Amino acid sequence: MADNLLIITGTKKEQYEILLPQIKALITGEPDLIANLANIVAALKEQFGWLWVGFYLVKKEELVLAPFQGPVACTRIKKGRGVCGKAWADAQTILVDDVEKFAGHIACSSLSRSEIVVPVLKNNEVIAVLDVDSELLSNFDETDKIYLEKMLGNTMEIWY
Ligand code: SME
Repeated sequence: MADNLLIITGTKKEQYEILLPQIKALITGEPDLIANLANIVAALKEQFGWLWVGFYLVKKEELVLAPFQGPVACTRIKKGRGVCGKAWADAQTILVDDVEKFAGHIACSSLSRSEIVVPVLKNNEVIAVLDVDSELLSNFDETDKIYLEKMLGNTMEIWY
């Protein structure tokens, strides 16, 4: 895979359409999970410029911080806690238009205003979550949900 990502302007849908095949190409043939997660979050950050984008991995009874781009973040999150812990417990994507209105939201950065958390499922179990934060209110919508879920569905070969 080339080291240069093609970054485009356009609608959110157009940006995902160009980015997702590039992410697929970046991870294809590379067996190391951490290397792949690192490149996925770097590619997303480069295209969209979000405040924070990263993974948490399910380890025993907690989510543990994994590759990310953005300000330093909380290292461990318990099941059911915050947006990430709830997406894990419910095994469902959660869109938060205004983090201040989400009871129990964990504020890793005071700049964060809206958030989307997408779980990664393997054999019907959540094994990780992808968390994305924005400084803008209501920055995530159904388009992000559809494409981020699709992107994670395309990464299944990298997970243990
Ligand atoms: N806001 C998240 C915590 C993780 S940080 O945003 C990176 C939550 O409420 O689960």
